[in-house]
Amino acid sequence: MTKSLSSIIAGAALLGVVHVSAFAQKMPPNTDEAKVGDYVLPELLRCENGRLATSVELWRTVRRGEILEAFSSQVYGRTPKIPVHLRAEVIATCTNAVGGLATRTLITLHLFDDPEAPTIRLMLYVPNAARVPVPVFLGLNYFGLASVEADPALPLTAQWVLDDKAKGVVNHRATEATRGSHAARWPLELALRRGYGVATYFYGDLEEDHAEGWRTGLRGYLRKQSDRTGAAPDEWGALGVWAWGLSRAMDYLAANPAVDAKRVVVFGHSRHGKTALWAGAQDERFAAVISNDSGEGGAALARRNFGETIADSVRAFGYWFCENYRRYAGHAADLPTDQHMLLALCAPRPLYVASATEDLWADPRGEFLSAVHAAPAYRLFGLEGLGTSEMPPPDRPIGQRIGYHLRTGKHDITAYDWEQYLNFADRQLKPQSTTR
Ligand code: GCU
Repeated sequence: MTKSLSSIIAGAALLGVVHVSAFAQKMPPNTDEAKVGDYVLPELLRCENGRLATSVELWRTVRRGEILEAFSSQVYGRTPKIPVHLRAEVIATCTNAVGGLATRTLITLHLFDDPEAPTIRLMLYVPNAARVPVPVFLGLNYFGLASVEADPALPLTAQWVLDDKAKGVVNHRATEATRGSHAARWPLELALRRGYGVATYFYGDLEEDHAEGWRTGLRGYLRKQSDRTGAAPDEWGALGVWAWGLSRAMDYLAANPAVDAKRVVVFGHSRHGKTALWAGAQDERFAAVISNDSGEGGAALARRNFGETIADSVRAFGYWFCENYRRYAGHAADLPTDQHMLLALCAPRPLYVASATEDLWADPRGEFLSAVHAAPAYRLFGLEGLGTSEMPPPDRPIGQRIGYHLRTGKHDITAYDWEQYLNFADRQLKPQSTTR
C-alpha cells in the first residue's frame, strides 16, 4: 500500500505536480541568513506598460492603482463595495476611565438596517485634558474589549476567541479571567498622557479567526449561502474583512468632533499588523500606518526564504487571503507583488515598521528591507523614507517619513514599541489648528 502510494507520488513528481503535496507538509523554517537565497523584487515604480513612474502624477494615476489591483486580485482579495447604512449607537460612557485620565465610550456600529447583521463594537478613549480634537491610534484587539483594560464594566465578548489559557480563554470563550489579560499591549495611560486617543474593536466581531469563521461573520452574511463553493479566486479573505472594519471605524471617528480626523493612525500587531497595512493601503484617510511584527503577508518580503513562508501562511491561515494566493506557496517569485509595494501604498503618509530580535518567524530583516525598498515612492513626493539601507542595532529607532526599530525581545507589542510610535506621531503628524 505504502509502496504504491510512494510510486504515485514519484510519478506525480515526474509530471511536475508534486509541489502541491510537498508544500502541504510543514517544513522547518529557515533562520539562517546565509540560506535565504537570491531573489529579485518586482520594480516598485515600473508600470505595467514598461514606463517608470517618475512623478507623483504617474504614481497617483497609474502605478498606485496597478499595485492595489495586484494585491486585491492575488493576495488579500477584493474588498467589495458594500452599501452600508452606518449608525452609531452609544452604549456606555465612562468619564473617569483609566484613573480619570479619559472618557471611554462604547459604541455599537450598526452597518446595515438589519438586527441580524454583524456589528462592530468600538471602544474609544479620549483624554480628558484635551482642549482640541485629538489624534487617535486605532487598532484591533485579540481577546475582546474587556481584555484591553481590567474594568468589570467592560463587556466580555461572546464571540469565538483564540484559545489561550494565559488570557483566561476556555474552549474559545472569554471568561472573567480574560479581563485585562492583554492590558500590557494597551498602555493606555502612556498614550492618553501624551494627548492621544485610542480606539479598538475586537476583530472577531466581523469574522472569527478560523477557517469556518466566514460562515457566521460578514462574509457569510453577505453571501447568505451555506458554503463557499464557487467563491471567486479573488474573493476577499479574513484580513480584508477586518481591514474593512477598520475603515468603518474610521467613518465613525471622522464624524466624532472629539477626534482629529486628519490624524487617525491605524496600527496593529502581527496578523493585526497585516490588517493595518492593508487597511492603510486602501484607505488614505488613515494619516499614518504602523506595522508591529506583522511578518509574512505583512511587512516582511515574501521572496526572502526566512521564517514564515507563503506556504506556511496558506497552510495554517489560508482563509486570511484570497484563493489565488495559494498558488504562490513555494513560488513567491511568481507573485506580481512583494510587500515593499504594500508599504509603498502608504506614501506619502508616515509609515512605521517594527520588528523584534527574537521574532525570527516574522523575519525582522525582511521587514526592514521591505521598508528600505518602499522608499522610492516616498522620494517621488520629495520625502526621505528610512534615510538608510543599513539595519540599525536593537533598540535604536531610525527613519524619517518611514520609521523603523528592532526591539530586543519576543513577538509582542510592548510599551517600548508604543513609545516609539508616539514619538514618531509627535514628529510626523502636525496638529490641526482649530480649537473647540
Ligand atoms: C502566526 C502566523 C503569523 C501571524 C501570527 C500572529 O504565527 O503564522 O503570520 O502574524 O500568528 O498573528 O500572532
